[in-house]
Amino acid sequence: MSRRRLRLGLTLLAACCAFGDIAEAHDPLAKTSAPSTVAAAPAQPGVPSIPGFGGPFRLTDHTGVSRTEADFHGKLMLVIFGFTNCPDVCPVELMGIAEALDSLGAMVAAVTPVFITVDPHHDTPERMAAFVGQFHPAIIGLTGGTREIADVIRKYRVHVMLAAGDDPSRTGHSSFMYLMGRDGGFISLIMPGATPEEIAARIAKYAQ
Ligand code: NI
Repeated sequence: MSRRRLRLGLTLLAACCAFGDIAEAHDPLAKTSAPSTVAAAPAQPGVPSIPGFGGPFRLTDHTGVSRTEADFHGKLMLVIFGFTNCPDVCPVELMGIAEALDSLGAMVAAVTPVFITVDPHHDTPERMAAFVGQFHPAIIGLTGGTREIADVIRKYRVHVMLAAGDDPSRTGHSSFMYLMGRDGGFISLIMPGATPEEIAARIAKYAQ
């Protein structure tokens, strides 16, 4: 299933996350890069976060509870943006994150994966629950009002192109993954198309 979905994802790149070089970077074929392992990642405790990126938000999680960024302080936060109608690229990314989380063992407790919608009009908490629940129980889905989502998109410099017609699956968005530190500050950028091994190694690097 995994491989078939990855191939399907390739054929649908033009429909989702279609941002030229970013869409290319989304290419799962990039998985041919040298494998890294969680065990080999050098720990970098206490690395200072980079100010001025990310920041406060007040959104609603997939269980309907109001959440702010402060709720996630004390752990690393892996932030990604997408939308539940994304035909395949967002699901492929989330499958990769789920695989990375499963490979972390006990270290998984050090990180909260957060999936923030770029399409709050369609993505109700109920839709978000059904979507993130397909991938990993640790993933928190966040949605909110149009203004709140626009604010968090601006703070993370996400590029979004909402679908003009009736087909919400044609919404495009950049899909970097942002690793935030225990104080909520930005510490590391993970490229679209990173392998589960690369994602896990990056988390492990800052989790100790
Ligand atoms: Ni997508």
